[in-house]
Amino acid sequence: MTRLIFLISTLTQIVHIHVRSAKSATADCQCINYDSTYEKKYGIFMSPDWPKYYASNINCMLYTFTSSTDSIIEVVFDEFDLDRSSIDCIYGDYVKLYLHLKEPEVNERSMHNSVLCGKLSDIQQTHYSAGSALIFEFHTDWRSGNNTGFRGTFRFINKTLFEINGKLTPGTNCNYTFYSESTNENSGRFFSPQYPSAYPRGVDCAYRFVGNKNERVRLIFEQVKLQKSELSCLNNPDKIEVRDGDDAHSPVIGQLCNKNTLVDMVSTGPNLHVLFQSRGHFPGQGFKASFIFEDVSLYNLNSETPSMEPEKTSIEQRLTTPKEWKSGCNQEFDSDSSKNGTFTSPNYPKPYPDDTRCVFIFQGRGRERIQILFTDFDLYMPNEEIKDCEGPIDTVMVFITIKGHQERLNNYCGSTLPRQLMSNGPSMTVEFKSHQLQSSPTVKGFRSIYRFVTNFGITAGRQDSEQVCGFIFNSTEHTNGTFTSPNYPGIYPRATECHYFFHGRPSERIHLTFAYFDVEGVPPCTMETASDYVEFSNFRTVDRKIPRHCGPKKPKTIESDGDFFRVAFKSNDKFDGTGFEAFYQFRNYVDPITVRRTAGAESCHPLFLQLLSCAVFWMML
Ligand SMILES: *[C@@H]1O[C@H](CO)[C@@H](O)[C@H](O)[C@H]1NC(C)=O
Ligand SMILES: *[C@@H]1O[C@H](CO)[C@@H](O)[C@H](O)[C@H]1NC(C)=O
Ligand SMILES: *[C@@H]1O[C@H](CO)[C@@H](O)[C@H](O)[C@H]1NC(C)=O
Ligand SMILES: *[C@@H]1O[C@H](CO)[C@@H](O)[C@H](O)[C@H]1NC(C)=O
Ligand SMILES: *[C@@H]1O[C@H](CO)[C@@H](O)[C@H](O)[C@H]1NC(C)=O
Ligand SMILES: *[C@@H]1O[C@H](CO)[C@@H](O)[C@H](O)[C@H]1NC(C)=O
Repeated sequence: MTRLIFLISTLTQIVHIHVRSAKSATADCQCINYDSTYEKKYGIFMSPDWPKYYASNINCMLYTFTSSTDSIIEVVFDEFDLDRSSIDCIYGDYVKLYLHLKEPEVNERSMHNSVLCGKLSDIQQTHYSAGSALIFEFHTDWRSGNNTGFRGTFRFINKTLFEINGKLTPGTNCNYTFYSESTNENSGRFFSPQYPSAYPRGVDCAYRFVGNKNERVRLIFEQVKLQKSELSCLNNPDKIEVRDGDDAHSPVIGQLCNKNTLVDMVSTGPNLHVLFQSRGHFPGQGFKASFIFEDVSLYNLNSETPSMEPEKTSIEQRLTTPKEWKSGCNQEFDSDSSKNGTFTSPNYPKPYPDDTRCVFIFQGRGRERIQILFTDFDLYMPNEEIKDCEGPIDTVMVFITIKGHQERLNNYCGSTLPRQLMSNGPSMTVEFKSHQLQSSPTVKGFRSIYRFVTNFGITAGRQDSEQVCGFIFNSTEHTNGTFTSPNYPGIYPRATECHYFFHGRPSERIHLTFAYFDVEGVPPCTMETASDYVEFSNFRTVDRKIPRHCGPKKPKTIESDGDFFRVAFKSNDKFDGTGFEAFYQFRNYVDPITVRRTAGAESCHPLFLQLLSCAVFWMML
């Protein structure tokens, strides 16, 4: 192939050449080449005549980018305006991207990664190559619309930025082991395959973290962009699973799918195992993450060494100096020291001092969540009219970490006992503030119980170690009982997914009746409406027959089709509710045909039929 190199600033002509290809009939393409010769690191590309309207009948124009072997290529479309004549851009005018090329050439058999058309808001603007070649094809059809085409920038990026700081297992593509060696740096980064380019389909990657006896592994998933999907993580074809131990059978403590940022996870022991699997058809960009092997003594609250945890740093910043943090009424509770206990306002049950601020920090690990139950609550309130406990009044504020930021879950003031709360991850912060000039000698302050729990506050069923929050109900253990949303009757935790698996005997069906239901959302309870939801299924996968439930209305009684049933609860990172309480029962299935045959003309017959038709109606919904 003829290789013509243009200095971008002087790009004035387009050269016609032939691309080698299996079939020659369609191989007539115009080519524009950009490469990193002359130490060039970036440049601009554009469609012909940009910003004037592009011509019709540009059958094939290939933009080819080649970098040195230790770099990858980034292209960003800053302007984009192509006529959109089909939803998936396969007809009409389009830009077709080839990101995973071994050689800087394409033919009919080359696999493209995506096709772009429409306006800037319709497309993904940034794309990366996996290796040192990236090609996109610009195609226009016979129709002349009035569209300006595209203009963008490209950059060559040093591959070392995406180097995984672990040992690749020989003979594997993406199985790594990370050892903590006291002499070396005990932190580093890891990525999905080909990051920042899209990961391939059908991969199984394993990242094993092996620490020393006195160490823990902390992971921060800085950016997660997997295949977009409305499904719960259980059914998502692309997901990251974090297991608390040395192998692929250790209990699951974290699961990530779809999109996420800055998710923090901590092992309970010195080892962690991360599995990444892609089974979907439309791979996302993947993930970037960092790890650190932390010495357990860093967690010791009397230790002189400040903790590495970002959240603590921000609290310390708010308190201006670490010295101030150590003095006074601030406290840190670590699940190593105790799994439960109490904390109170200063001097409780006597009045607390004026102008005081106390910060209580809770740090768990593994699957642990922090559950907080106030047993006494009596703060000074100068004016009954105050809304949402905002303003210069005495308050208790509860913070959780969402997307790496401290987010206030709620403010509490006055003397109303707050509902039981639960963190969305292994850490949580409670802040108490009192102000000056109070003249009420009668206030007691507050007292609260905290617990580090691994069961999400769900006490029914048997917890499934294959899920972050999964519970198994086996009719051989209990034939009936109640089950609830996490932290019930308190407020359910944010960004939490729980599954309830019901296994009956072959002759049994599962009946569910809801006693209470308050799941924040708007039907059809999708991501689009930022809804939390409860989902029912006769399978481990999604059951399209039964709609999702959310809102204040209780679902009607539900009966399974067979001897298996699954209920899922999923909350997002916004808005809260109190969840649900439901009664389950494994009942012997009465076959309608048997009933008709044996019941005959007995008086119970009509009632039986009525019940059955009701059940059938529900199954068909
Ligand atoms: C393009 O613009 C010209 C004049 O500005 C107009 O006559 C023509 O109808 C436009 N074509 C389309 C497809 O919008
Ligand atoms: C990439 O970075 C590494 C390490 O920083 C450096 O040795 C190498 O020369 C860089 N390569 C390029 C092409 O800049
Ligand atoms: C990599 O690890 C995963 C998970 O343990 C495993 O399923 C896969 O077979 C391994 N790959 C290879 C090539 O051994
Ligand atoms: C706290 O934990 C201890 C065991 O560690 C247990 O006996 C006790 O009942 C727990 N208290 C509460 C309030 O959960
Ligand atoms: C249910 O319990 C029975 C008897 O203990 C056992 O054989 C079966 O495997 C259990 N089923 C599940 C899904 O745990
Ligand atoms: C529920 O199960 C208990 C035994 O676990 C049994 O005694 C009781 O009759 C059952 N109740 C119903 C309504 O099935």
